[in-house]
Amino acid sequence: MKIAVIIGTRPEIIKMAPVIDEIEKRNIDYILIHTGQHYDHEMSDQFFIDLELRKPDFNIGVGSGSHGKQTATMMNGIEEVLVAEKPDIVLVQGDTNAVLAGALVASKLHIPVGHVEAGLRSYDKSMPEEINREIADVCSKLYFVPTEESAVNLLFEGISPKDIFITGNTIVDTCIRNLKIAQKSEEKPKFDFDGDILTLTMHRAENVDNKERLQNIIDALLELDDVTVVFPVHPRTVKTLKEFDMFEKLENADHIKLIKPVGYLDFLLLLSKSKFIMTDSGGLQEEAITLNVPCMTLRYNTERPETVKAGGNILVGAEKDKITSTVKEILNNDDLYGKMSKAENPYGTGNSSKGILDAILGLYDAGELKITV
Ligand code: UD1
Ligand code: UDP
Repeated sequence: MKIAVIIGTRPEIIKMAPVIDEIEKRNIDYILIHTGQHYDHEMSDQFFIDLELRKPDFNIGVGSGSHGKQTATMMNGIEEVLVAEKPDIVLVQGDTNAVLAGALVASKLHIPVGHVEAGLRSYDKSMPEEINREIADVCSKLYFVPTEESAVNLLFEGISPKDIFITGNTIVDTCIRNLKIAQKSEEKPKFDFDGDILTLTMHRAENVDNKERLQNIIDALLELDDVTVVFPVHPRTVKTLKEFDMFEKLENADHIKLIKPVGYLDFLLLLSKSKFIMTDSGGLQEEAITLNVPCMTLRYNTERPETVKAGGNILVGAEKDKITSTVKEILNNDDLYGKMSKAENPYGTGNSSKGILDAILGLYDAGELKITV
């Protein structure tokens, strides 16, 4: 068997890493294709170092650009590689343009597609990621879904239960394994900030490309001066903060620490020392509940509703008053804080990649929903 693994952005590298480890453990032949959508050292290479991954066999070097241009260039590059390499299965992860491009190209070449983290739905078609998820799931053959809820989403779309595997989310595998490594290798305490740390990330187009919405969030952050806001800024967000003249204001606020995107081991240390997390990231919502850190999500919907249902995540949207009042409420209400930090993790116990490889190798009986988590 030969597997082609496609990645393109920071979260795909992080969430595919344990799958790649599992492929290697089982001595299966594989090729690693990087689309090159993320290319800065701190958005890509750093994760290959931290997660001890081999260099990609192919890098399509797509870089930044419009959705159409990016997807078309990726499709072109991926098609050339797949035609030459003839893998038996193509694995894609999540909801980026790489997933869309990889799934479309492979399915038209009649190569089965395995979608890792399939079945997530925000039901918000204004998000590019929602379109990518839906199309990837139309093109896939094997669905590795994190939870029963995501399996049900696929069943409603007419996907056969025999192709759906409830495996948990590979982020739990990565997170648990690497937190231990990070804690062991921490020589001197990193991120030694005073007071309660609120770790913030945001990069979602609907937040950071929209001046009014971004201004609301920034105003809330400026007001939250009873916590230390640690903000590793995504390159997309640096660009628009500067364009809208908001960067300097944040830089000048004593309680806000703007830093470059952080490598995975350091970032896990930062998360584990945080009082809470504020984010519009998908992965962060999952990591927060894995690490028992209360999360506030800067969105009005989420394709990770399990985290909200479990009580570990609150959707605060992008209104200044809602954001500041929620932070204060969590900070001053021990009961609420306790409940949020004890929310049960819906994404499994860290064996997702094993379940995924077992499914690929046909180790489960077909004909019923297979819960491997
Ligand atoms: C992409 C994904 C998003 C995912 C996110 C993870 C799509 C449609 N979007 O969004 O789903 O959550 O990655 O972080 O696939 N840039 C750099 N250096 C880089 C990469 C990007 O400076 O290494 C800047 C460029 O100005 C670029 C902008 O960031 O135009 C946006 O990058 P892009 O890859 O298009 O989308 P992301 O916002 O990163
Ligand atoms: N992350 C990181 N360093 C940072 C910010 C995020 O290592 O400075 C990791 C984070 O732990 C998570 C992933 O990047 O696993 C999330 O990526 P991102 O928010 O870019 O994308 P999304 O998950 O929203 O697709």
